[in-house]
Amino acid sequence: MQIAHRMAELGTETAFEVLARAEALAREGRDIINLGIGQPDFKTPRHIVEAAVKALHDGHHGYTPAPGILGLREAVCRDLESNRGVTVSPECIVVVPGGKVTMFFAIMMFGEAGAEILYPNPGFPIYESVIKFSGATPVPIPLLEERDFSFDAAAVLDSITPRTRLLILNSPANPTGGAIPRETIDELVAGLDRHPHVAVLSDEIYARMTYDGREHVSLLGYPQLRRRLIVLDGWSKTYAMTGWRLGYAVWPESLVEGATRLAINCHSCVNAAAQYAGIAALDGPQDSVGEMVRAFDERRRVIVNGLNAIDGVGCRMPGGAFYAFPNITATGMNARDLQSRLLEEAGIATIAGTSFGAYGEGYLRFSYANSIDNIGRALERMSEFLSKAAAPG
Ligand SMILES: Cc1ncc(COP(=O)(O)O)c(C=O)c1O
Repeated sequence: MQIAHRMAELGTETAFEVLARAEALAREGRDIINLGIGQPDFKTPRHIVEAAVKALHDGHHGYTPAPGILGLREAVCRDLESNRGVTVSPECIVVVPGGKVTMFFAIMMFGEAGAEILYPNPGFPIYESVIKFSGATPVPIPLLEERDFSFDAAAVLDSITPRTRLLILNSPANPTGGAIPRETIDELVAGLDRHPHVAVLSDEIYARMTYDGREHVSLLGYPQLRRRLIVLDGWSKTYAMTGWRLGYAVWPESLVEGATRLAINCHSCVNAAAQYAGIAALDGPQDSVGEMVRAFDERRRVIVNGLNAIDGVGCRMPGGAFYAFPNITATGMNARDLQSRLLEEAGIATIAGTSFGAYGEGYLRFSYANSIDNIGRALERMSEFLSKAAAPG
């Protein structure tokens, strides 16, 4: 057998490997606290589940239009109007099986040998993986701890070349929890005027998860970018629907046809019942979103304060999402070793910063989508583990 060379370029998401190892240890009877996986520990709200059940009983069993049923695309537009204050036509929405699919489509649409794609590093690992798979060259945008994991807009603009096709942004971000401030986005967008050949993919899947009254700055708020802007969002995080596989993107008019063709070639359409659930999520009560974000906020403070109280660990207060990204360089261990020892010796699943790119060395990602109790126990175990590891002899 001879498989295509590009398969060697395809990476993976370590979170799934850590989850498998954590589950294997748990099956052996070990008490593992999982702060590795990036999904809300809440159930999908009941009215959303019921809408899916009703759709099945009502006979919605067939294919739907490839970009999604019109009712869902209209619900997305209403949501964009009320949550981001922007008017978008349902013709520009393409519904896909999860946020990741938009990422894959956008990168494959622009990436090929000779092209360059800018992406955040440390960042969601699939960006770099699919850029390489497409044949394009990944060009990292370093996210800087001293800027609360935002970036220097001037440096990003300087790294644009005639070969740059796509610029990927993610705010609030995985794995850092960083949120890009409005001034930085303003500066970047103003500078992009000089580079009209560069398209932008803005991954806004954590848009509803910001803290301390911080606004979410959507790239949709910049009309001058619209003709070259793809905004990725979905239901996975906001409505605790990771397993439903439901996401969408706002595409520029000129790219909708290409995105739809990719959908037809790949998955035809998203399963119909999930799409009806998606309408119920957007049109129904939003209390569950607020409750979940309030719970995350409380855990955020507990975990960040707890991490900062441990010798050798320093953690910025994240502005969004549900991740803390402490600097662990003073422990004397690298990210991969500390991840592995915390799991095997202390029973805490975390993810090494290097799983999110080379600029993640010296950091660990903690997902605080877990109970306050478990977070507290994990912090105690980590503190004990590090004090023993630091003890002479
Ligand atoms: C930044 C970011 N974008 C996209 C996704 C993908 O979301 P989905 O599960 O809807 O494919 C994730 C999931 O972890 C993410 O962290």
